[in-house]
Amino acid sequence: MRLLCLATTMAVLGGTATEYAARAQTATNPELMAYGEYLAGECTTCHQTKSSSDGIPAITGLDTDHFVSALEAYKSGSRTNTTMISVARSLDAEQIRALAVYFGSLNPNK
Ligand code: HEC
Repeated sequence: MRLLCLATTMAVLGGTATEYAARAQTATNPELMAYGEYLAGECTTCHQTKSSSDGIPAITGLDTDHFVSALEAYKSGSRTNTTMISVARSLDAEQIRALAVYFGSLNPNK
């Protein structure tokens, strides 16, 4: 089911994934980008794609390394926000990378 959803999402988003890849500064794997966009649905219930709200920081346009190390810090418990700890612990390294690439490609001012 999850796989089916992913296939559908990727089919629908096929065109836009290429656009995001073009917008990203470095040459990025379009599949990783599309995977990140798919996974982002879990995050955007809290994180707005445009700006911060209700004490929840914006995570668009972040440097990939900053994004990855923030999630690693929640995973290890060195950052102590319980919500983000459980979110981070549900993600594997490839998923974190995909999310970092996708959110990093979004312009926080748009
Ligand atoms: C239930 C709400 C919620 C959900 C869902 C959620 N977050 Fe968060 N996130 C937060 C809050 C609140 C913070 C600030 C926590 C803190 O103070 O450390 C945060 C912080 C972060 C940060 C650190 C930002 C920075 O610059 O320090 C990153 C990165 C992040 N979230 C990524 C994600 C990703 C990726 C997902 C989806 C897989 C996600 N979050 C899902 C609420 C949420």
